[in-house]
Amino acid sequence: MAAGDRTYDVVLFGATGFTGGLTAEYLAEHAPADLRWAIAGRSETKLAAVRDRLGVDVPTLVADVSDAAALADVVGRTKVVATTVGPYLQYGAPLVAACAEAGTDYCDLTGEPEFVDRTYLEQNAVAERSGARIVHACGFDSIPHDLGAYYTIQQLAKKLGGEITAPVKMRGIVRSNATFSGGTFHSALGAFSRAKQMREAMVARRRMEPRPEGRTSRAVAGKPSRDGDLGYWLLPLPTIDPFVVARSGAALPEYGPEFAYTHYAGVKTLRYAVGGSVGAGALALAAQVPPIREQLKKRVPQGSGPSVGRREKSWFTVDFVAESGGTTVRTRVSGGDPGYTETAKMLAESAICLAVDDNPKTAGQVTTAQAMGDALLARLQAVGITFETR
Ligand SMILES: NC(=O)c1ccc[n+]([C@@H]2O[C@H](COP(=O)([O-])OP(=O)(O)OC[C@H]3O[C@@H](n4cnc5c(N)ncnc54)[C@H](OP(=O)(O)O)[C@@H]3O)[C@@H](O)[C@H]2O)c1
Repeated sequence: MAAGDRTYDVVLFGATGFTGGLTAEYLAEHAPADLRWAIAGRSETKLAAVRDRLGVDVPTLVADVSDAAALADVVGRTKVVATTVGPYLQYGAPLVAACAEAGTDYCDLTGEPEFVDRTYLEQNAVAERSGARIVHACGFDSIPHDLGAYYTIQQLAKKLGGEITAPVKMRGIVRSNATFSGGTFHSALGAFSRAKQMREAMVARRRMEPRPEGRTSRAVAGKPSRDGDLGYWLLPLPTIDPFVVARSGAALPEYGPEFAYTHYAGVKTLRYAVGGSVGAGALALAAQVPPIREQLKKRVPQGSGPSVGRREKSWFTVDFVAESGGTTVRTRVSGGDPGYTETAKMLAESAICLAVDDNPKTAGQVTTAQAMGDALLARLQAVGITFETR
C-alpha cells in the first residue's frame, strides 16, 4: 500500500510496557484530534487493559515481533511506527526490516550503538530504495544532544553573520538526577556484555558508510577535566549520543567544513566524578560475566520503572559550548524527568512530526536533526523542553 493510503498515521508498538505506556498516555492527551493512531503489542488482553486505562477508543493491533507476517501486516497499515519494544538488540531487527521493506517510517528509543550500526548495515540501502525514514534514538538518547547541537549550530551561525566557514569544536555536558526502568537496565547490561560485537559492527559500518565530500564531522573522545565557566567536572561519556551528533554534522553542511563534538557527563564534586566512573566501570565489568548479569537483571525487572513521584522530582540539563574562528556560543537544553516523562513526549512528538509535518526529503537511516530538524525543535519547545542561548 502506498504511504498515502495507509489506515493509520502512527502505530505505537510496546504500549503494554513501562515507557510505551507513558507514550500511549501522552498520545491520548496530546495527539491532534485528527491523528489516526493505534497501539500494537503481542497480547490482546494487555493491549485492551492499556486502552481501558487511557479512556480513549484507540484500535489495538496484535503482533509478536518474531512473527514476520503479522509485522508486515501491521507496518503496511501505517505511515509511521514508533516502538518501545526493547532491548532492541534482542527484539528490534525484524520491525526495522519490515518498515524498511514497506516504505514505512520508523522511530524508536534505542541507545544501543551495535543495534543502530547493524540496522545501518542490513537495512539502510533497503530503506533508501523504499523511501522509509529509519530514525533511531528518539528519546533522551539522543534528542536533547542531537537537536541541542543542531540548535547550537544555528546560534553560532547567527553570531558569525549567517554561515560557518571555520572549524567548529563543540562539547555537550549532560547532568541529571534521574533513575532508570527495568527495560533500560536490561538494555544497558546487554550492550555492556557485547563490547567486541559492538566494535565489529562499528568498524563494518565505517567501511561501508560514505563520508561527506570536502567536509569532516567527528565524535572526539574527551579527557576528564574541569569546566571553570560551568563549574563542573567533566567525565567523558561513551554513549551513542556523540555518534548521532557527528552523523548529523556529516549530513548537514550548515555544521561547517570541520565539525568535532565531544560528549561529557558533568558532576559538581570530584567525589561524585570518581564514584560515577568507578560505578559505571564496575557495572560494565559485571555485565561480562553471564551469572552476575542474570542476577543483576532480576534486581530490576522489565516492565517496572520510576514512580510518578520520583519522575516529578527528576530533571536534566545539557550544556553546549561551541567555538569557531574565535567566536563562542553557550546554549542549554533542559526539561523534566529525562528517561521516561520527557522520553515519552519526545518519541510521541517525533512520530507525529514524521507523520504530518513538512520535513526535508530524506530516506534510509537518518538522525532526528537530519529527518525533522526545525519542525521537531519547534514541537519540543512548544511542549516544555527548553532550548536557550546563555
Ligand atoms: N533512549 C532512552 O532515552 C530510553 C528511555 C526509556 C526507555 N528506553 C528503551 O526503551 C526500551 C523499553 O523500555 P521499557 O522500560 O519501557 O521496557 P519494558 O517495560 O520491559 O517494555 C518492553 C515492551 O516490549 C514488549 N515486547 C517484548 N517482547 C515482545 C515481542 N516479542 N513482541 C512484541 N512486543 C514485545 C513488551 O510487551 P509485553 O508487555 O507483552 O511483555 C513491552 O510492551 C528499552 O530498550 C529501553 O532501553 C530508552
